[in-house]
Amino acid sequence: MRVLGIESSCDEMSAAVVEDGVKVISNVIYSQVSIHAQYGGVVPEVASRQHLLQVAPVIKQALTTAKITLGDIDAIAVTNGPGLAGSLLVGVGAAKAIAFATDKPLIGINHLEGHIYANWLEDPQRMSDNPFPLMCLIVSGGHTELISMTGHGQYEMLGQTRDDAAGEAFDKVASILGLGFPGGPAIDKISKGLVSTYKFPRAWLKGSYDFSFSGLKTSVLHASQTTPAESERPSMAAGFQEAVVDVLVSKAIDAATNTGSKQILIAGGVAANSLLSSEMRRRSPVPVMSPRISLCTDNAAMIACCAYFRLASPRRDNLAMDVSPSLTLA
Ligand code: KG4
Ligand code: ZN
Repeated sequence: MRVLGIESSCDEMSAAVVEDGVKVISNVIYSQVSIHAQYGGVVPEVASRQHLLQVAPVIKQALTTAKITLGDIDAIAVTNGPGLAGSLLVGVGAAKAIAFATDKPLIGINHLEGHIYANWLEDPQRMSDNPFPLMCLIVSGGHTELISMTGHGQYEMLGQTRDDAAGEAFDKVASILGLGFPGGPAIDKISKGLVSTYKFPRAWLKGSYDFSFSGLKTSVLHASQTTPAESERPSMAAGFQEAVVDVLVSKAIDAATNTGSKQILIAGGVAANSLLSSEMRRRSPVPVMSPRISLCTDNAAMIACCAYFRLASPRRDNLAMDVSPSLTLA
């Protein structure tokens, strides 16, 4: 079973061929990050225009790398939300055209569900046949959510951010500290091996599984204004990262314990963070899963993987499928 996956929800255009749900045959990613870096963040109109230029070559490259043609594909999977409307439209339009031309099933995938399924890719032994109930911590540029997964495609939302998403906080704090865009990898790198002298506040929001990072962001801003010396920046970045990771890990472990989860799964771009990964593994009483680093950030292989598991259920989409920029998982 070969699924062609297409992902274009933000500033990455990606196409992938995945065999039997877990084997990545090709996973081509065209990132626009260098274009958006000059503006300090993703400019939606620029992103969709770039996608229009890249969609055909990226899909073609994914097929060429996999040494197959469209006729060898069994299904087409595409992210139809959440994300930027103009960006999503390009991928969904291409997927519909291919589904129509080849008369193969079309499957719309929730981007966040794709991030979760990146954990099944490449090394199926990591995920047992029945890892459920599973506690998923989704941490990306647009989302921070704790979701209990009770089976394939079955989700219950326990908590989410009330303001900034974790990745968004990383990006904004990196901008405050002059570390460039995207901020997550920059803060991760500059903080390596440091124990910060800054103890920034943690918003525990006791009694809920919700998150809040805007107060922390403001504290870093004040610290950077009070102590503008460039030499202090690595320690501030490390202190910020310690605070974010402390809250994410504590809440995910509490949620996993209280729901009797067998495993904790980390998903989304911030899952690539080295401190989050090591602290979650150090503190969790249950096994912790996270995708290979290159599969943490946006890619189409995770979309194709998710579609493979969806094919086991009767749910199908058709050519009337539209983009859904605010699509939720649960
Ligand atoms: O999942 P993703 O690629 O796109 C969205 O769906 O949003 O996540 C992108 C986010 C960005 O905010 C980026 O700064 C963050 O993931 N990120 C990281 C790291 N790598 C990417 N954050 C912390 N540490 C990292 N190593
Ligand atoms: Zn994403």
